[in-house]
Amino acid sequence: MHAIRSKTLLSPNVTRFVVEAPRIAEIRKPGQFVIVRLGPGAERIPLTIADADPAAGTITLVIQAVGKSTHDLVDLDPGDAIRDIAGPLGRPTELLPAGHAVCVGGGVGTAVVFPIAQALAAAGVRVTSVIGGRSKEWVIFADELRGTGDVVVCTDDGSAGRKGFVTQALAELCEGGGIDEVYAVGPVPMMRACAELTRPYGIKTTVSLNSIMVDGTGMCGGCRVGIGDTSQYACVDGPEFDGHAVDFDLLIDRLTTYREFEQDALARRSQPGQCLEGDR
Ligand code: NAD
Ligand code: FES
Repeated sequence: MHAIRSKTLLSPNVTRFVVEAPRIAEIRKPGQFVIVRLGPGAERIPLTIADADPAAGTITLVIQAVGKSTHDLVDLDPGDAIRDIAGPLGRPTELLPAGHAVCVGGGVGTAVVFPIAQALAAAGVRVTSVIGGRSKEWVIFADELRGTGDVVVCTDDGSAGRKGFVTQALAELCEGGGIDEVYAVGPVPMMRACAELTRPYGIKTTVSLNSIMVDGTGMCGGCRVGIGDTSQYACVDGPEFDGHAVDFDLLIDRLTTYREFEQDALARRSQPGQCLEGDR
């Protein structure tokens, strides 16, 4: 059992938990994730390790409440516990050894880009973060990222920072030159747009793929992604890949496979007792 030490609401549907997981806190590396199971029979949810404190024996998980299982998780409070946390899983981020890295975070993806920016800055790489949200209250990790370098905040409605998508700010940085690598994490259309933007400049672009995962060990095939002309598994070969080689159409197609099932499960959660198609 993993006790929850603290809980903070970061944006209207994003919650940060600091959770006891001493072994994972000691050995995790940037880019790695865990698979969380709230209790017996519960869905397994892959979550990036946003931060860790080996001395306190804790890891930080950032959860966007979108479906039944993530709503169940964010309903927990300090003192409650998560039954299983398996990890660290996945390959650590391949960090740029020197130069200038731009870390792009879209919405909740900013929590995933934070440990990468942190590790790059610690290794002496110049870091510029470009982070975006629909409006002011959806921007997360801005203060934490300011500890790693310059931060450009973007909001769709202009309520904080500059108005527009993160890709507009990235386009200007690319135009200015001097960028050695881009790390982009967020909604799939955002990661795809970032990769298309950097392609003509030949700037290496790493994206983190949020494909559907079950076992997290390369056995079930659920997280299959197309990289160039190969099939790879995000849980063991990723989750980070060369954005210029990702088959984003396949990723989008596979991410929507269980959408109806997920919507039914969420509807049942909010209206207990209601009998839906599939219960019969
Ligand atoms: P959102 O839809 O509110 O978008 C956040 C920001 O991303 C926007 O403000 C904008 O700056 C940028 N953006 C969005 N669409 C764009 C586009 N078409 N072109 C350029 N920029 C764009 O984000 P959200 O609701 O916080 O994110 C939810 C999505 O992120 C979900 O689909 C979730 O699955 C995904 N996600 C991905 C990862 C990952 O590891 N890649 C991790 C967590 C969540
Ligand atoms: Fe099963 Fe990756 S989650 S193979």
